[in-house]
Amino acid sequence: MKVGIDQIGFYTPKWYVDMANLAQARNEDPNKYLIGIGQSKQAVIPNSQDAVTMAANAADTILSEANRDKIDLILFGTESGIDNSKSGAIYLQHLLDLPNDVQSVELKQACYAMTAGIQLAKDHVLAHPDKQVLVVGADIARYGLHSAGEPTQGGGAMAVTISADPRILAIEAESAHYVADIMDFWRPLYATEALVDGKYSSAQYIDFFKRTLTMYQQHTNTELSDLSALVFHLPYTKMGLKALKSILNETSESHANQLMKNFEASRVFNRQVGNLYTGSLYLSLFSLLVNADDLNSGDKIGLFSYGSGAEGEFFVGTLQTDYKKALHADHMQNLLRNRVEVTVTEYEAMFNSQMPLQAEDFETNYREDSAKFYLAGQQQQQRVYHQK
Ligand code: HMG
Repeated sequence: MKVGIDQIGFYTPKWYVDMANLAQARNEDPNKYLIGIGQSKQAVIPNSQDAVTMAANAADTILSEANRDKIDLILFGTESGIDNSKSGAIYLQHLLDLPNDVQSVELKQACYAMTAGIQLAKDHVLAHPDKQVLVVGADIARYGLHSAGEPTQGGGAMAVTISADPRILAIEAESAHYVADIMDFWRPLYATEALVDGKYSSAQYIDFFKRTLTMYQQHTNTELSDLSALVFHLPYTKMGLKALKSILNETSESHANQLMKNFEASRVFNRQVGNLYTGSLYLSLFSLLVNADDLNSGDKIGLFSYGSGAEGEFFVGTLQTDYKKALHADHMQNLLRNRVEVTVTEYEAMFNSQMPLQAEDFETNYREDSAKFYLAGQQQQQRVYHQK
């Protein structure tokens, strides 16, 4: 039985900062951000959006009467959790008005958690073929104003439904994992911004990619040339390019050109949003499927998921007949097209206006937010979520 991604949804807030402007404000050559980092725009997250509301806004786009009563499990990957005990998945079940008998759990392993959710969902559907699983990844990537990581911030959410006979991508049974206890990127409980050893993290990412790709090929007796495209977790789009270039000498020139061309298609959307952490790989997959012009059903796509700390997984999916028809491409393109540019000063003010980690009541700037689901603030130490 084929199991995999039946639908893909996306959400990012409506504000962004232009990376050339940010570079100028930081006394950097704009090409460092545009080419060296590979980012053109960066999502700016208002204090009325958090991981829960962004997840709900993404998931809402792929829920309908046709699948609502089939979903019996919500798996919510995030490293921007809003509570140390209560799962964000419970808030999601409520906001999305899914039935109360839906099993709902939050998962964490840095940017890898959405992939963990998808693999767990695949096994769940294999055991219960008439059911579907809603898997969501939502995060806010924050390193701090003026930090080296600042041009690699961003935020948003991806949502997928995993089902039998999927319309978009059937996920193969085999995959390769590599796990090692390293300190490349982490966020202690007291910190709202990530701590990162940037150069080390980038080197570890490439090492994990090469290891898991090799392990996958050895387990499955397959070759790079079997794959029409490779998609990557994209903390910044140059990262994926560096990883791709590290293995291009293992294939023919024409195949290397095909992989490069498809990589460009796979980073179109990520260039405009920045790092989504958990959702980043799936935004890149979505970008590939919408923007590539020479993919066909039956083509195999290799996916590399990486979560700092660190865990990597390489796995493969097969494009399904009419996959393009199942993509909500217009919704995605409108969302990106209708965003509002903010100045660097406005971005800094929004960055500093996040709801503080305090017990006192707080009201967010939700009146400026047009998203369906939003965070109104905190009352009596409880987050207050609303929908329009
Ligand atoms: P930096 O030290 O400011 O940048 O930080 P740099 O000096 O290394 O320059 C970046 C690139 O721009 C270099 O290219 C320069 O040559 C180039 P590279 O050597 O990398 O190919 N450059 C220029 N290019 C064109 N024109 C110019 C120009 N000037 C310079 N004029 C760094 C960069 C990525 C380290 C920093 O932003 C950072 O620490 N980011 C956060 C960490 C990160 O994203 N790591 C990625 C791997 S870890 C991961 O993916 C997991 C993660 O998503 C978290 C999770 O799992 O939850 C982060």
